[in-house]
Amino acid sequence: MYNVAQVTTDLYWVGANDRRLALFESAYPVPNGVSYNSYILLDKSTVLFDTVDKAVSHQFFENIEHVLNGRNLDYMVINHMEPDHCSEIQTIVDRYPEVKIVCNAKIKQMIGQFFNFELPETQWHIVKEGDKLDTGLHCLQFFFAPMVHWPEVMVTYDSVSKVLFSADAFGTFGAIDGNIFADELDFDSRYMDEARRYYTNIVGKYGMQVNSALDKLSGLEISIICPLHGVVWRQDLDKIIGKYRKWASYEAEENSVLIAYSSVYGGTQNAAEILSGILANMGVKNIKMYDVSVTHPSYVLSDAFKYSHLVFASTTYNMGIFVSMENLLNDISAHNLQNRKVAIINNGSWAPVCGNLISDIVSTWKNTEILGEKIQVKSVLKPDQRAELVNLAETIVNSMK
Ligand code: FEO
Repeated sequence: MYNVAQVTTDLYWVGANDRRLALFESAYPVPNGVSYNSYILLDKSTVLFDTVDKAVSHQFFENIEHVLNGRNLDYMVINHMEPDHCSEIQTIVDRYPEVKIVCNAKIKQMIGQFFNFELPETQWHIVKEGDKLDTGLHCLQFFFAPMVHWPEVMVTYDSVSKVLFSADAFGTFGAIDGNIFADELDFDSRYMDEARRYYTNIVGKYGMQVNSALDKLSGLEISIICPLHGVVWRQDLDKIIGKYRKWASYEAEENSVLIAYSSVYGGTQNAAEILSGILANMGVKNIKMYDVSVTHPSYVLSDAFKYSHLVFASTTYNMGIFVSMENLLNDISAHNLQNRKVAIINNGSWAPVCGNLISDIVSTWKNTEILGEKIQVKSVLKPDQRAELVNLAETIVNSMK
């Protein structure tokens, strides 16, 4: 049975949700599921914008058959060639053999990598930056957005309805629970954290390119944003665009402290807990703490983008950094996080070396300062070390002013 939603008078959401997927991209837990969004414009020509992941293809085809209601499909716009959106290209070509594929040259090349079908040249509509396509009442314009999230990515702008088909940009983890529009639900409590986790983990490395794309789109009058994941925006667009500006610029949202620790027998955890209490007594609000062996790194990385001050407390293991902490730090490095203040707590019962190893990693982060002296724990904190934690907390608090 079809499950579609009307976006404008002639534009329909024909996507679907997957709530059974454990790991998106085999990497990121999606406990609230994920939506794969696709849209159909019923103009004089009919246009499909992207497809879906193969996991939800049955629902997708029910949807497009219902919306097309016997009409042929004239165009299929491919904005992003990642398989979570393009897995059904070949089936669309099989079902609608006269369809024209609208894409850029890089996308066409990648279609050739992922699929084996042949189409006559007349069925390829290859666009360049800024090209337009008249579909009857509507006019589609194409803008390239490389590395948001792959190099071939483009976005499509309907200059008549002022709709931006934004590819991965402005998407979020989390299935759509009936309400397709962000203004129909409490986005901040329901989706914002997952929008941040989605952005930071998937696209976070490419802040410069995201800012370039935002600059390019800033001249367009946009009324509706239709992303490839998550809810559609038709109100308060500045809210999500403003968040993207912050995230892409590696600018913290919260002037507060994130404490990430790894602990084998509790000594390092104890130091982290005491530091958090001292910071709270000094008036720091919204402190966040994670045991990085318990919480998936995608959540910690997301909050590392959110918080201004990061404390890493780790035990030494195999003459290195404890594995879950090392994994997190490398993940943060890979995502190009910048502009942070960092403090370090180092534990080791006979060779406490991980503090220096953490410094080595953090010192590669742009515009990032390591605050104060590292706290050196040997197995467990000794009573006279509370003063060291107080000193570190004061240094952190002073740097927040
Ligand atoms: Fe949702 Fe980059 O694919």
